[in-house]
Amino acid sequence: MAATISIHGMWTNRLAFILAATGSAVGLGNIWRFPYAAGEYGGGAFVLIYLLCVAAIGLPIMMAEIMLGRRGRRSPINTMRALAREEGRHPAWQLIGWMGMVTGFLILSFYSVIAGWTLAYVVHSATGLFVDIDAAGADGVFGALVGNAERLLFWHSIFMALCVLVVARGVASGLERAVRLLMPALFVLLVLLVIYSLSTGNFAQAADYLFTPDFGRLSAEAVLSAMGQAFFSLSLGMGAIMIYGSYLRSDASIGSNSLIIAGMDSLVAILAGLAIFPILFANGLQPEQGPGLVFKVLPIAFGKMPGGVVFSTLFFVLLMFAAWTSAISLLEPMVAWLVENLNFDRVRAAALGGTAVWLLGVVCLLSLNKWSGITLFGKGFLDLLDFLTANILLPLGGLLIAVFSGWVLSRTVSADELALGEGPLYRLWRMLIRYVAPVAVAIIFANSIGLPSLVMGWLG
Ligand code: PHE
Repeated sequence: MAATISIHGMWTNRLAFILAATGSAVGLGNIWRFPYAAGEYGGGAFVLIYLLCVAAIGLPIMMAEIMLGRRGRRSPINTMRALAREEGRHPAWQLIGWMGMVTGFLILSFYSVIAGWTLAYVVHSATGLFVDIDAAGADGVFGALVGNAERLLFWHSIFMALCVLVVARGVASGLERAVRLLMPALFVLLVLLVIYSLSTGNFAQAADYLFTPDFGRLSAEAVLSAMGQAFFSLSLGMGAIMIYGSYLRSDASIGSNSLIIAGMDSLVAILAGLAIFPILFANGLQPEQGPGLVFKVLPIAFGKMPGGVVFSTLFFVLLMFAAWTSAISLLEPMVAWLVENLNFDRVRAAALGGTAVWLLGVVCLLSLNKWSGITLFGKGFLDLLDFLTANILLPLGGLLIAVFSGWVLSRTVSADELALGEGPLYRLWRMLIRYVAPVAVAIIFANSIGLPSLVMGWLG
């Protein structure tokens, strides 16, 4: 019989879970990463593939992660080990948990550096630095921040400390209160920003860019990145959603909760795109701005709008909070594991995990300035970690989670947890998790390393 509560605490109710999981999903991935990746890979076709991946791969895997977490009620490593044992399968399945913990560690190290940018931008906004700023000026402000290792270190350290603080207090008491207020506020502000951008920017060109797919421009790497973006944005493939599922009460519906979380997440990404690209085009900028995109474009709009100082300060504060609620979920699996296996109390576990992540983050931030000459595959360390985790490790984790949930876990367990009966919805989920999700991930992987043309070469 599966446990009904977790030793780490429980969400007080279903709304708390939705808010926390949405808080994990909605973050820099939507507002920083989605627009810059869409701009990097040519817009419409990328966006379409991203949305397809959310629906056909992301959604079923999200349900699977919540289901596994709730069934196991432990950190992802121990959950996977327990479930494999329950099914009489090889303990090696716990590798899913180990891989996830490492992936979360790697993601958080660069995530915290980018979150540090948002903190710096709060101060920039509040001190009026963006008033009447033009594209060149915004570019200069961004360059000055990223080029300065000491400033990056300062903000990265503050952000990591904030994460440790919440995780040390326990997810339920620390996190629930924060997300309840901040997520809706961010949403309202983003809608206002879209309205502003819609009325003053080049909306037609932006809509055309984001929603008219041009498959001619779609490279294999673009498809891989669109899939990676879906995993990253939904917090899937590394156990964050799994551990949040482990704090969810047994009677909550997994399917409808997943639909709400994934829907909100995609909506926020699209809204961010609609806020940024009209301003970008109206100022004659190119979409291929790289990771600095949002930080170079939004200040131009804030600088012109009435009340821009207040508005932009508020915006970056909320973006920082969105990053915070995501970062917490990246740290939590590691901390829960330290508590379970090494008998640490939460405070020590959070401090230890946070310090280790902070150290790797220092390498990330140095790769933007002092060590920018060191590259691998044409990328600096931070960019490389971003690419490796989102496009390879998360989809790989997701693929294994799908295979485990669809082929290893017995049908009675998944039917029982998902509580969809044996009806068409359950059969749809099972088909997606057994066939569609793993095969799609595998094909996209194979395609991105040029396997089809290799095979064609052998055959022909
Ligand atoms: N989904 C978060 C975002 O979009 C990032 C994240 C990835 C969080 C993976 C947890 C796990 O910002």
